[in-house]
Amino acid sequence: MIDSKTKVVGVVGKPIGHSVSPAMHNAAFSNLGLNYVYLAFEVSDLDGAIGGMRALDVRGFNVTIPYKVDVLKYLDEVDGLAKMIGAVNTVVNDDGMLTGYNTDCSGAVDALVSKVKLKGRTVAVIGAGGAGRAVAFGVAEMGAHVLVVNRTLSRGEGLVSSVNGFFAGSAECGTMDDLKDASVIVNTTPVGMMPDVGGTPVLKKFLRKTHVVMDIVYNPVETRFLRDAKSLGCVTINGVEMFVGQGAKSFELFCGKKAPKGVMWDAVLKLLVSRV
Ligand SMILES: NC(=O)c1ccc[n+]([C@@H]2O[C@H](COP(=O)([O-])OP(=O)(O)OC[C@H]3O[C@@H](n4cnc5c(N)ncnc54)[C@H](OP(=O)(O)O)[C@@H]3O)[C@@H](O)[C@H]2O)c1
Repeated sequence: MIDSKTKVVGVVGKPIGHSVSPAMHNAAFSNLGLNYVYLAFEVSDLDGAIGGMRALDVRGFNVTIPYKVDVLKYLDEVDGLAKMIGAVNTVVNDDGMLTGYNTDCSGAVDALVSKVKLKGRTVAVIGAGGAGRAVAFGVAEMGAHVLVVNRTLSRGEGLVSSVNGFFAGSAECGTMDDLKDASVIVNTTPVGMMPDVGGTPVLKKFLRKTHVVMDIVYNPVETRFLRDAKSLGCVTINGVEMFVGQGAKSFELFCGKKAPKGVMWDAVLKLLVSRV
C-alpha cells in the first residue's frame, strides 16, 4: 500500500508513455513486499526535474532517451564504467548525493555471456549511439575484439577511438562484409522496432549459421533480424534479456535487494504481448 513511507523511484525521458519499466519494477517491488513505487516522468526540463528529484528526496531514477548523456552534468559522482561509456541510465540519490551508473552495459554483457564466451572473440556492434557505446565498452572489458559497423562512419570512428583509449587495439570500424569474421553480432540500432517491424539492421545474406546474434530491440520480442538468424540455425538472444538485466541491476541499486528477475521478465512479456 502506498503511504507516507513509500519510497519513490522512476524513469525520466521523452517520450515515456510506452515505457515498460514501471510494470517491471512495480511487479518486483510487489513480489518482495517492498514499500516502493516506480513512476514514469515525461520530462522537457531536465534541470528542473533533477532539482525536483533532490527536493522531493526521490530514491533514484532511470534515464532514457534523450537524456542519458545530458544527465551527467547534474551528478555528484559517476561510476567508472559509466564515465568511460559517457552515458548514465541509472541515478541513485543517497541523501542528496546523486551517483550515476550504466546498467545497460552489464545488462547486455550478462545476456551475451549466458550464451557465448566473449574473451578472444570478435563481436560486431551494429550502431554507435548510447546503447552501442554501452555494448562496445562492455564486451571490450570482457576481452573481446570490437568491430563497429555504423551508418555514419565518423560516429563509428569516434566510438572506436574512445574504446581504444581504454582498451588499446581492441576496436576497429568495419562494414557488413566484415561480419563474416565476427563470432557475435549485436544490433544496437532501432531498426526493426515497432512499428517498422519489416526492417532489419543486417540483411540475411551477411549472416552465417555460426554467428551468435543478439538484438537489443525488445518490441517486438522477435525481430526480423532474429527470425532471419534463427532460420539459419544461429543462436539468438532477444532484447528482453538485456532489458530485464539492466532493470534488475538498477533495482538492486535502488533498494539493495536481489532482484526477482523471473517476475520482472514475466511482467515485461505480459505487457509487450498485450500491445501486439
Ligand atoms: N534492450 C534494452 O535494454 C535496451 C537498452 C537501451 C536501448 N535499447 C534500444 O536500442 C536502440 C538504440 O538506442 P540508443 O539510445 O543507442 O539510440 P541512439 O543513441 O539514437 O543511437 C542510434 C544508433 O542507431 C543508428 N541508426 C538509427 N537509425 C538507423 C537506420 N535506419 N539505419 C542504420 N542505423 C541507424 C544510428 O546511426 P547514426 O550514427 O548513423 O545516426 C546510431 O548509431 C533503441 O531501439 C532502444 O530502444 C534497448
